Amino acid sequence: MDNRQEIINNHYNNYDEDSRLVKDHTHNLEFLITKNYIERYLKQGDKILEVGAGTGRYSLYYAKKGYDVTSIEYVKHNLDILKSKITDDMTIRAEEGDAVDLSRFNDNTFDMTLVLGPLYHLYNDVDIDKAISEAIRVTKKGGIIAIAYITSDGVFADWAVDHLIDGYPNDFDNNFKLIRYPESIFAPFYIDEFKQIMKKHNITFMHNIATDGIGPILSEKINSLSEEEFKVWVKYQLSVCEREDLQGYSCHMLYMCRK
Ligand SMILES: C[S@@+](CC[C@H](N)C(=O)[O-])C[C@H]1O[C@@H](n2cnc3c(N)ncnc32)[C@H](O)[C@@H]1O
Repeated sequence: MDNRQEIINNHYNNYDEDSRLVKDHTHNLEFLITKNYIERYLKQGDKILEVGAGTGRYSLYYAKKGYDVTSIEYVKHNLDILKSKITDDMTIRAEEGDAVDLSRFNDNTFDMTLVLGPLYHLYNDVDIDKAISEAIRVTKKGGIIAIAYITSDGVFADWAVDHLIDGYPNDFDNNFKLIRYPESIFAPFYIDEFKQIMKKHNITFMHNIATDGIGPILSEKINSLSEEEFKVWVKYQLSVCEREDLQGYSCHMLYMCRK
């Protein structure tokens, strides 16, 4: 295991990824907005690839709905949880693998490719580019690619403020941009930076979506909303999630494009 693998494995071996998207309203918001956009384009009988499937929150959900799902996951601990939840009524293959090398799949294989996580952890430009190129390569012409990424200011506002006392600013450059470096677990972007990276690829842009918006910053308040109130917040986030003037503090972003 190289250093990078060790860092990512250590993180997920000691983190409850399985309950992340359902543990409270704030996290659930990301799941609901992401699903809403995915389902605008999924068609019956579609073949879905999820790269970085984690414990299967999306893969299992769509396999249960009858889609033909293939899941690739880097961390054995997460993959084992995913596999333990597969039921007989699902068409799903789940394998260990790395987003930067999808050579086990032919070109133009999947109707929709979801990369909801690996880009949170890839810190060098070559690997970032490979993961994006591979996702595009294995998607059918006309198919959809959805790639999630995290933002520097979203991470700062949500998480880093609690860590300033521990010397967390060492991870920032002089403009308070989080630095991507080998020993860091998370690798955030500025929104425009990510859009520029995607422009180098031969795809048609569809959406750039703030999937949690200021939800994480307001988490205490949002988590205390009743179910009815939370439904209104979800509706609000859905109505504003593509507004560029509101996106910079979203922790999670979803870039969707067509091949
Ligand atoms: C935050 S989790 C998200 C899991 C799932 N996609 C979801 O949204 O619920 C990110 C996942 O990506 C996986 N991952 C990280 N780097 C990866 C890589 N290079 N290739 C494949 N998976 C990777 C992690 O192990 C982790 O399970």
